Amino acid sequence: MIESRPSLPATLDDVDGWFPKVDQRLFTWFLERQDRLGQSGDLVELGSYLGKSAILMGRHLRDGENFTVCDLFDSEAPDDSNQAEMEGSYATLTRTAFEANYRAFHDGLPQIVQAPTSAILDHVQPESCRFVHVDASHLYEHVRGDIQAAHVMLPVEGVIVCDDYRSEHTPGVSAAVWEAVAVDGLRAVCVTPQKFYGTWGDAKPVQDDLLEWLGAQDDLWHETQEVAGRRLVRVKGRPAPKPKKKNQVRELKERLARIEDQRARAQHELDSVRNSVSFKVGRAATALPRVMRRRRPPQG
Ligand SMILES: C[S@@+](CC[C@H](N)C(=O)[O-])C[C@H]1O[C@@H](n2cnc3c(N)ncnc32)[C@H](O)[C@@H]1O
Repeated sequence: MIESRPSLPATLDDVDGWFPKVDQRLFTWFLERQDRLGQSGDLVELGSYLGKSAILMGRHLRDGENFTVCDLFDSEAPDDSNQAEMEGSYATLTRTAFEANYRAFHDGLPQIVQAPTSAILDHVQPESCRFVHVDASHLYEHVRGDIQAAHVMLPVEGVIVCDDYRSEHTPGVSAAVWEAVAVDGLRAVCVTPQKFYGTWGDAKPVQDDLLEWLGAQDDLWHETQEVAGRRLVRVKGRPAPKPKKKNQVRELKERLARIEDQRARAQHELDSVRNSVSFKVGRAATALPRVMRRRRPPQG
């Protein structure tokens, strides 16, 4: 029997996962800014699923840096609640599928830790990273541990991104993120509808650069707010502008004119075929036997 394999993705849009466009833009901005400022360090993702965000992060890996992803993939979760999450949301996930997707965009694989995220510090050195994406379990105890591990892995100017910090179904993530802000010195740089971006360093210079960049992005909306006396930038995507009514009418008229032009040309071609000698001879040849049959006197 021939086994049918899913086709390989050609673009990030073809990869299943949870990585909105606005966050794709912001990941790129944060990672490119670090590059511009000469900040080097490793990249870590806790929770990769089929690789949507990992594939983008891997594009920013430079010589001498490591990228580590940590995910349970198709192995057992460390506790019943986590196992229920896995069966509810990621039942068909396999490591092989992640690897195939990642290889469709990159020559090599990242370092893969197929284990609970609580094992990450066995594989990544303290203060060795510049960017950590926390996107694994949604349970408070796990996320709290993941944020604490990120604090260990990042030097002071490093960037942490936490997914689902405000979703209705993930109150445990919200609790862990805001707890880190309230008691563990984490500073919010910005938030999008789905992700929280922060640092244990000085958020101000990052926010200043971000606001300057956002001012020039027509497809991104932003505002600043004070939260507990600290500046916070909110960012989200703008819906694509609808074409103006006047333009729509003009476009419709142009389409109509094109259709009328095609119809007139087809009519012209039909007329020239009908008037051609070969068409008339052909018609006469097929008409003759019919006329002869009609004229033939009845038999008997
Ligand atoms: C929301 S998905 C990640 C989405 C992905 N970053 C993307 O861009 O599409 C969460 C992932 O975390 C993994 N996960 C859940 N609990 C985990 C745990 N305790 N340790 C490691 N990985 C875990 C799941 O297997 C799943 O692949």
